[in-house]
Amino acid sequence: MLPSHLPEPDLYRPGTGEPSLRWGIAGPGWIAGEFTKALKAHTNQQVVAVSSRAQERGAAFAAEHGLSLTFGSVEQMAAHPEVDVVYIATPPSDHVISGLAVIAAGKHVMIEKPFTVSAAQAHQLADAARAAGVLAMEGMWNRYLPQTSVLRKLLDDGVLGEVRTLLADHGQAIPADPQHRLYRPELGGGALMDIGIYPMAFSSFVLGPPRQVTAIGSMTDTGVDAQSTIVLQHAGGAQSTLFSSIVGRTPSTATVAGSEASLTFGEYFYTPTTFTLRGPGHFDPVLSWSDPSGLTQFEALSWEATALATFVGQGRTESPVHTLSEITQIMDTIDQARAQIAAS
Ligand SMILES: NC(=O)c1ccc[n+]([C@@H]2O[C@H](COP(=O)([O-])OP(=O)(O)OC[C@H]3O[C@@H](n4cnc5c(N)ncnc54)[C@H](OP(=O)(O)O)[C@@H]3O)[C@@H](O)[C@H]2O)c1
Repeated sequence: MLPSHLPEPDLYRPGTGEPSLRWGIAGPGWIAGEFTKALKAHTNQQVVAVSSRAQERGAAFAAEHGLSLTFGSVEQMAAHPEVDVVYIATPPSDHVISGLAVIAAGKHVMIEKPFTVSAAQAHQLADAARAAGVLAMEGMWNRYLPQTSVLRKLLDDGVLGEVRTLLADHGQAIPADPQHRLYRPELGGGALMDIGIYPMAFSSFVLGPPRQVTAIGSMTDTGVDAQSTIVLQHAGGAQSTLFSSIVGRTPSTATVAGSEASLTFGEYFYTPTTFTLRGPGHFDPVLSWSDPSGLTQFEALSWEATALATFVGQGRTESPVHTLSEITQIMDTIDQARAQIAAS
């Protein structure tokens, strides 16, 4: 039996006592711009600084977004007394380098997904953050979206019953430019690392770590994974089938199927979206949900920023809904899958 009502989402609402932190942005690229706009429009956070490898790019970003401080390195920015937290939006290969620099300066850090390019690097960052007593968080923004809290409640309340199957995909057709960071192995490119991290983290959220990892994929001429299918076998026989691609656009939806009900997120499941909840029978009634917050697409990066500030205000050194040990476990699964894809 489906419930008569769906649970209300838990929201990381701004203005609920979280500190107004002063943010520095490392790497003034595409997502850095979206993140900065989202923070300025939809949070109580302050974006005050940017660091770039090139003076003119930093200055242009600062001018566009009205930031008062520009720096030539993340080290200099993190050391500045008017910066409380750094958002790292550089390519994945740089995340461990910049992340360690911020932690060494004693500042909190949010690192864009993927947290690092290996489990070993993720351990390194997690250990450093724990030792320094600062908060380190992956910018896995999906975790902080309203829809994710509703799914958590449905799972915890047993509405889906025993979860046996999870399907999730994320495919984009990125033009095959060898200079594009997604096609460059030395920058941590490839579908799984950059795009497949979303299905992978979603599986971890619902079913926890796998017992067995089976992956098959194909590589680009530049030596990154172009697309792959990964089957994860979990405790009790539950399975996740995860697909990612940089050579083909796929629906990018996700389904969690249990003995009592099945939940399907609509297109771009990792962004603010809709879901339907269906009973196990073909003609069972359907409940529909859509994000009530009014925040769409990348405006919703604001949730993770308010979440970080909330956690800092609570004296936490990691996210309670996406812990450092879960992040390192996900990176370990990706390590295993990447090795199999490269060999397939
Ligand atoms: N949450 C999301 O929805 C989302 C969406 C897109 C991307 N991302 C993630 O955000 C990160 C950045 O992606 P993006 O698409 O914004 O990339 P991007 O547009 O290429 O920007 C990355 C920035 O990092 C700096 N950079 C480039 N190469 C570097 C290197 N080797 N070492 C240090 N800094 C370097 C550059 O700034 P300077 O040269 O000026 O220093 C560049 O502007 C990635 O981890 C990606 O997976 C997340």
